[in-house]
Amino acid sequence: MAESWATFGRDLHLDLTGPGGVRAALTRALREAVRTGRLAPGTRLPSSRSLAADLSLARNTVADAYGDLVAEGWLTARQGSGTRVAHRAVPHPAAVRPAPPERDRRPAYDLRIGTADVSAFPRSAWLAAGRRAISAAPNDAFGYGDPRGHPVLRAALADYLARARGVRTEPARIVVCAGFMQGLAVLGRVLRARGVREAGVESYGLWLHRDVLRRAGLRTVPLTVDEHGARTEELTAHRGVRAALLTPAHQYPTGASLHPDRRAAVVDWASRTGSVILEDDYDGEFRYDRQPIGALQGLDPEHVVYFGTASKSLAPGLRLAWMALPGHLADEVAEVKAAGEWGTGTLEQLTLAEFIACGAYDRHVRAMRLRYRRRRDRLVAALADRAPHIAATGIAAGLHAVLRLPPGTEPSAIEAAAWHGLAVEGLNRFRYRAPGAPPTTPPAEGPDALVIAYGTPSEHAFEGVLEALLRSLPGPVQAASDGS
Ligand SMILES: Cc1ncc(COP(=O)(O)O)c(C=O)c1O
Repeated sequence: MAESWATFGRDLHLDLTGPGGVRAALTRALREAVRTGRLAPGTRLPSSRSLAADLSLARNTVADAYGDLVAEGWLTARQGSGTRVAHRAVPHPAAVRPAPPERDRRPAYDLRIGTADVSAFPRSAWLAAGRRAISAAPNDAFGYGDPRGHPVLRAALADYLARARGVRTEPARIVVCAGFMQGLAVLGRVLRARGVREAGVESYGLWLHRDVLRRAGLRTVPLTVDEHGARTEELTAHRGVRAALLTPAHQYPTGASLHPDRRAAVVDWASRTGSVILEDDYDGEFRYDRQPIGALQGLDPEHVVYFGTASKSLAPGLRLAWMALPGHLADEVAEVKAAGEWGTGTLEQLTLAEFIACGAYDRHVRAMRLRYRRRRDRLVAALADRAPHIAATGIAAGLHAVLRLPPGTEPSAIEAAAWHGLAVEGLNRFRYRAPGAPPTTPPAEGPDALVIAYGTPSEHAFEGVLEALLRSLPGPVQAASDGS
């Protein structure tokens, strides 16, 4: 018998199974709760009458169990103050494990993959939007809701995406999801169910996303990435490929934007072959040198699934993302999503809808764009000053930069960064690998570089991060002497 105890303002799970009858089981369960710290010293226990009522036991059984534990010194019973957990040295769970050795500490700064600077999360504006949205929400907003997402959010997103990203859609074609990862997983399943077997992916990209497609049963086919983005013309050489996952606005992680000729060609390929392009627009709002590049989806809404996310614009902890789907996919995607993970919390959705509608989303993005651009400029200036042999590329947009290193120095630069308390990822980590291939490959396979998520640290930490990074970078390669 497992019971939940909810009588004195807190729940305590007591497992009353085991040998020796109910009194022994209750005594054992309470002793364990005290011993492991789940019941803190000084905690007042419920009266034997109310605990007995909660657990459907005889009052005497509880009184006897309390008596046993008082006798053992785990509890104290005093006239007027009831039964309490005794003040005695109880090992805290954390104290049981030995402290990690000094070298195993987490890095002071983590510049891997990259999130928004979450210290800048607009807490007050978000709370204000939430208060307004939840106060005004009708009762049915607290029900299960629509697996496609709340209509109010889908309407706000359709407006925003058309205005800010050039997406051509309507609320009925938008599906809200718990992050890009979930949306991609659902799309992968839908495409596989439709008979798609192979998907093109960029030869540099996030391994997590390749794995999502593979888990959906799709074989991934790498497309070469160069300074103009993915070589989408390679798709025509793979007759079985009927889907392509791309990051057109800002290739992840190299930072290239897809060349206009390739944009046109890939859309042409999709409509000619009846294929689907999955457009991952993860940081499309953050472009610094000119207007953000519009979404590829705008060129052909019937063959491109547009994915946006709040992970870079607000915070990944929200787990809020959205897809704008071709008409022929919208219902099926909603059905597959409903059959699996259903939805994202409606209250967060309504808050985001209000956040967008009142202009706070635009204000936040504009403020963050300025902040990230300043950081990027500081990084570029610091490199020019202290490590002019290292170029930062892919920096016209986004929250990360690629620092090109002298050949063969990527592994040692990662180690040096770790020594300075910085966790960084090398470019080779993002290279396409066949399923099951080892995570590390000889640096000779691709150019040596570090992917630096300069957007992640909080503002006050950035100076320290920059200094540690500069100290980690390899020096210039000495020109070989010709001996003359
Ligand atoms: C390339 C890329 N795509 C998409 C995302 C967003 O993923 P999610 O919405 O699951 O947090 C990220 C991470 O922010 C990313 O780096």
